[in-house]
Amino acid sequence: MGEFQTAWDPTESKSFDELIAHYQEGGVRAQKYADIIASADCRFFSAGASESWDLWLSREKRFEGAAFPGLENDLSFFSSVLGGHLLTDLGSGKESFMRSFARRFGVKLFLEVDLAYRKSEGMSPDTDDTLQIIRTQEDMLRAVALMPDSCSNFTINGIGLELITSREYHAALAHELVRATQPHGVIFGFGSDVSAYLEKYPELNNRGLESTNVADHFVFQKRAG
Ligand SMILES: C[S@@+](CC[C@H](N)C(=O)[O-])C[C@H]1O[C@@H](n2cnc3c(N)ncnc32)[C@H](O)[C@@H]1O
Repeated sequence: MGEFQTAWDPTESKSFDELIAHYQEGGVRAQKYADIIASADCRFFSAGASESWDLWLSREKRFEGAAFPGLENDLSFFSSVLGGHLLTDLGSGKESFMRSFARRFGVKLFLEVDLAYRKSEGMSPDTDDTLQIIRTQEDMLRAVALMPDSCSNFTINGIGLELITSREYHAALAHELVRATQPHGVIFGFGSDVSAYLEKYPELNNRGLESTNVADHFVFQKRAG
């Protein structure tokens, strides 16, 4: 645990490669998925699914009395689980819509994983006073497999079967996400087929959002211990 905290200290500027460098077991885990990753048919269109979180968050500005019941609870929930922690955005896309969400809830380190980033854009952290950002060009299943246990929160948006056509891939991703999510941490998103597999894990509580009934929004929280 001590080593984990040192490696993922969000106040230090490190690349993803440096962050995971001394986790040998991560490499062994990632290797297990080499065939699934190689055979996954990944496509690269951009759908802007993350925008739905900006839209949801815009309710905060328009909040009037009971207009959006449960909104205050949802906002303080995200602040309490994300504040000061690591948030990883899987298949983050070029637009990086989730950055404003990460800032709003006090995320300390924001890791953007996308297979389509070019190396030249990859490793320069875009940092401001409140949020350190690392972008990495990596397959998302491999990236999560490389990460240590219980280290991050995750968001995944617009990653459906039409984008990655292998069901085995989404099932393996769910397994690795449950392992790598920190206790009390969240896996949340929109329009992503991994959610159907996450439903099956007793380690997770399907919390959802109190302030919206949009079916494709999901919020799973990992139980402690
Ligand atoms: C539909 S876009 C969604 C982008 C963003 N999450 C959003 O909602 O606006 C899908 C993104 O996933 C990326 N992608 C596809 N397969 C991937 C994989 N196996 N690993 C990492 N990223 C992948 C694509 O490059 C693309 O940027």
